[in-house]
Amino acid sequence: MSRSLKKSLQSSPSGRDPAAADAARPRTLRVGLGARSYDIVIGAGLVGRSAELLAAHLSQPRVAIVTDRTVASLHLDGLRQALDRAGIASRPVIVPPGEATKSLPALGAVIDELLAGDFERSDLLVAFGGGVVGDLAGLAAAVIHRGVRFVQMPTTLLAQVDSSVGGKTGINVSHGKNLIGAFHQPVLVISDTDLLATLPARELRAGYAELVKHGFLGDRALVDWLAENRASLLAGGGSLARAIELSCAVKARIVEEDEREGGRRALLNLGHTFAHAFEAALGYGGELLHGEAVAIGVVCAFELSARLGLCPPDHAGEVRAHLDAAGLETSLARLSNRLPATSDLVALMGHDKKVLGGRKRLVLARAIGEAFLSDEVADDAITGVIDEARRA
Ligand SMILES: NC(=O)c1ccc[n+]([C@@H]2O[C@H](COP(=O)([O-])OP(=O)(O)OC[C@H]3O[C@@H](n4cnc5c(N)ncnc54)[C@H](O)[C@@H]3O)[C@@H](O)[C@H]2O)c1
Repeated sequence: MSRSLKKSLQSSPSGRDPAAADAARPRTLRVGLGARSYDIVIGAGLVGRSAELLAAHLSQPRVAIVTDRTVASLHLDGLRQALDRAGIASRPVIVPPGEATKSLPALGAVIDELLAGDFERSDLLVAFGGGVVGDLAGLAAAVIHRGVRFVQMPTTLLAQVDSSVGGKTGINVSHGKNLIGAFHQPVLVISDTDLLATLPARELRAGYAELVKHGFLGDRALVDWLAENRASLLAGGGSLARAIELSCAVKARIVEEDEREGGRRALLNLGHTFAHAFEAALGYGGELLHGEAVAIGVVCAFELSARLGLCPPDHAGEVRAHLDAAGLETSLARLSNRLPATSDLVALMGHDKKVLGGRKRLVLARAIGEAFLSDEVADDAITGVIDEARRA
């Protein structure tokens, strides 16, 4: 980040109260990836300051903004007006909300619309929305003109703590989720916590599951901090910016070590092999939101680790209790009637991208904050844990 930009962001709008000033101060985290390094700026009121944040990345005063209809109706005017005040022209490309938009037809439509608007190779694309918009617009940015620069402006908690960081982009096909995609890092992430005020409580909780997942897999202190602050965060108060910063820091450090998921980055998928099977069986986007499926998947991963004698059972209990206290489901009991046989769920887990040479590659844990990868888990043990989750 340029020094003048940092200084202008640090000039607090909240007067002389140091605590209020600290809460209002945007936080900046650097993702160090050599030539592909970028800042994640987190804080309140950042949409209003987007022109100064984007300035360093503009080759001409114009951007294209990919967003969905819901976000457009709530927040697009605010963003466009802020850009307009700084003389930056913006052209919106609006897609339908929902997981179904992560599709080849939608990707084609976005690219067509960008090209129809004379989007040039040096132009900047802004992904303004949740994970669906981020994944779709990111992929469009990766392929249009063989790759253009893009900025993530995530508007859901899930996107602010997870999908906007790390450069994974993708869409779904009939064979499965995220099977077409590219690694394409943004040049900047702007997470305005004010945007979360309009997010439905259910979406906020689903995002919380991904937020605390980073603690469960790699940062015990984050889990303890969240246990203290969870209630106020989920009520939309507390220091959401601090929570997002701490959670992103775990992901950023892992991405720095293993940008293209040759090994360690797979730890970020804690609970996901289970979750993807539950989502695939129930149909995406309705019965279980992605973050909700991840919460149950994380509980299964810790239960499995405990059953295998790898993790103290009280850690598995603590994970369950933490998610339960966040208002998230931690078992499949409510859904069991709508799910296929456990053997079918285990088979679906075998279709996950994380399968290696036919063996399921699972993220297990030795303790809270100490996840590791294993491809040595027998299907019987997985079956036992899912059966238990259906009864619990
Ligand atoms: N690329 C990655 O590394 C990565 C990581 C995790 C998840 N993902 C992907 O992210 C997607 C899920 O993201 P999501 O949970 O953000 O879903 P989403 O993008 O579908 O957003 C959820 C809903 O909230 C609405 N919304 C967004 N911002 C809002 C706001 N500020 N106020 C009110 N409503 C708002 C959206 O219109 C949508 O209806 C999945 O497709 C998942 O595969 C990607």
